[in-house]
Amino acid sequence: MKIIAVMSPKGGIGKTTTSDSIAYMLGEEQGKRVLVLDGDPQGDTSKTFGVYEPDGIGMSELLEKHECVGGTYKTGDLIRPTDYSHIDIIPANGYLMKTDMNLLLKSEDNQVTRMREALEEVSDAYDYCICDCGRLLDMVVINILIAAELVIAPVKVGGYEIEALQNLEEQIEDLRDINPDLRIKALMTMRQKNKTSLEVEEWLKTESGFDMFVTPIRRSIVAEKSTTAMIPLPKFSKRGIVSQDYRCVVHELLKEMEG
Ligand SMILES: Nc1ncnc2c1ncn2[C@@H]1O[C@H](COP(=O)(O)OP(=O)(O)O)[C@@H](O)[C@H]1O
Ligand SMILES: [Mg+2]
Repeated sequence: MKIIAVMSPKGGIGKTTTSDSIAYMLGEEQGKRVLVLDGDPQGDTSKTFGVYEPDGIGMSELLEKHECVGGTYKTGDLIRPTDYSHIDIIPANGYLMKTDMNLLLKSEDNQVTRMREALEEVSDAYDYCICDCGRLLDMVVINILIAAELVIAPVKVGGYEIEALQNLEEQIEDLRDINPDLRIKALMTMRQKNKTSLEVEEWLKTESGFDMFVTPIRRSIVAEKSTTAMIPLPKFSKRGIVSQDYRCVVHELLKEMEG
């Protein structure tokens, strides 16, 4: 199972849309077996996949009450099916904020590696694990990044995007002590065709030194409509421009991950 995190220190830049679209396309269009992890207490991806419950079990139990930390849950107990045959999910809700605090206050050996341990249990059952992260590098997201091999970092041009990417790169560099092979790859989202946007894109691709997806994701109101409808974008609008772009990104991703 290849674990991919979608993370950026900025909010509202398309992390969840990216995560949901890639998970949906890998599963329902490419026939891969996909496990989605909701790493954001807002539970947005849980909502998209129709399993959000404010008091339900999921990621909090995975991190706090799993057998690997002396609890009673196995990973399989926390995995929920979705309406999509190739996609399962471990959902999240507001309790995940408490989980972050609880992990911070405890000091146990596997504080940041328990997610990695818990996921090993289902490693043969899935081809891909796609993790939607919140924008804070909290204990939940650190656990995800320690388990992951690739971080997809959405970049939206509109100010401070370079700083955000550099911050993320620095944070990830610190985590490489524990997860040396963790790679980061940036993805332009909500791209508009104005001069500034195109200049930043060009700089990112040619001079920044950041690894980038070749395909930028264009901006379209259809993405917002799919979020409001709580339906994965590629299902909501199979042929729309944003779905077309994500489809190209998925092809790039498959080529990179599977050669
Ligand atoms: N390519 C796009 N074009 C237009 N709007 C988009 C696009 N991608 C995402 N959005 C919208 O932007 C808002 C924030 O996106 P979201 O994926 O929730 O970001 P994040 O998870 O980073 O907070 C949502 O309303 C979403 O529908
Ligand atoms: Mg989000």
